Amino acid sequence: MTIFDHVPLTPHGFCLAWNPALMALHVSSDAVIALAYFSISVALIVLLLRRRDVVFGWIVGLFAIFILACGTTHVFNIWTLWYPDYLTEGLVKAFTALVSAIAAVAMWPLIPRIVLLPSPKALALANQALRRQVEEYNDVVAALRQETAERMHTEDMLRQVQKMEAIGQLTGGLAHDFNNLLMVVRGNLEALDGRLENASPLRRYVERALSGADRAATLTQQLLAFARRQALSPRVFDINARIAAMADMLRTTLGTPGGAPITLEFSPGEAIGPVEADPNQLEAALLNLAINARDAMPAGGRLSIATTHIEHAANEADAEPDMAAGPYVRVSVTDTGEGMTPEVMHAAFEPFFTTKPVGRGSGLGLSQVYGFVRQSRGRIKLESTPGVGTVVMLDLPRAAAGLSPALAGTD
Ligand SMILES: Nc1ncnc2c1ncn2[C@@H]1O[C@H](COP(=O)(O)OP(=O)(O)O)[C@@H](O)[C@H]1O
Ligand SMILES: [Mg+2]
Repeated sequence: MTIFDHVPLTPHGFCLAWNPALMALHVSSDAVIALAYFSISVALIVLLLRRRDVVFGWIVGLFAIFILACGTTHVFNIWTLWYPDYLTEGLVKAFTALVSAIAAVAMWPLIPRIVLLPSPKALALANQALRRQVEEYNDVVAALRQETAERMHTEDMLRQVQKMEAIGQLTGGLAHDFNNLLMVVRGNLEALDGRLENASPLRRYVERALSGADRAATLTQQLLAFARRQALSPRVFDINARIAAMADMLRTTLGTPGGAPITLEFSPGEAIGPVEADPNQLEAALLNLAINARDAMPAGGRLSIATTHIEHAANEADAEPDMAAGPYVRVSVTDTGEGMTPEVMHAAFEPFFTTKPVGRGSGLGLSQVYGFVRQSRGRIKLESTPGVGTVVMLDLPRAAAGLSPALAGTD
């Protein structure tokens, strides 16, 4: 007899003698198992669809089919209690057997590979290491960026120094020759003046020419000052006393008739010692700075002058080439004016650089200050913030103790 022979088969319930309690036990248990299997396989399929990147996903898929098949055999367990479809049931079982055998065999070679998969803890550690690496990398990038910025700043300063040197040489040469020519012009005009009758109508022309020559001489003096080629009369003097004596003159300079009020403050530093420089040129410098501050504070404000002791070390990054290490006195002139943009600051010391309308500025104020400080073997620095104000710092070498009495002139 083959399985295809049509012989009347008995339903499985017959074996249970149709005992209702037994039937109920089998039906309910098989139903629960089948539903649970279906639910598990559907869950696995949903998981696979949602996470297509799951490792060894195909074996999970195989499990899903296997569990689905198992569920179906339990459905048939219920069905065959009443209907003897044992052939179909057998085929379903055969299919389940096939899938389970494949899964069972396929599992083993997978195990070593699954064991090799990193555990969540290992992954967290790896993540941490990666984060540390990223942080280190970021630090390196930041350091590199800062170094680049510093280098650019140094290069910028070097260019600035070279530019000022070049302009100084050109200006100095021109002003020097020009000054000599002016002396010739002036000498001859004076000689001519001496030979003219007092009432001569020609005297008018000579006087005008002389006053023009005087103005030109002032201009060449300013250019020589910038080029550090003016004749200085350095002396050792008490800088605090000198500035204090200037206060009235500075107040007059700051107060324009009808202009907004500008207050002047002077904070003399304690025990700053005498400086060695040309006091008249220092006065001219402070006057120039006060005029600039006044121009920068059309709505009024405050001008503060302070002196402090400052020590300059050898090879400071922003030292001037001929600056000696040692004690200096810093005169800071601070205003609460409109400030300067970086571009203006870059060019501010150049002779004839001005942002003021024609007739208002000559562009020679800061170049005088620059030339004076540099010729005195000091350093000048600007700090400015547009809309906040400007600080000009003049560092003048402090007079060495025991200076020759010849230099230590009275003041
Ligand atoms: N205290 C300051 N506040 C703002 N800008 C200033 C100040 N001092 C100088 N400047 C700027 O620098 C430029 C050059 O100054 P300076 O050499 O004194 O020439 P001038 O005053 O004749 O313009 C000025 O035109 C101005 O733009
Ligand atoms: Mg000026």
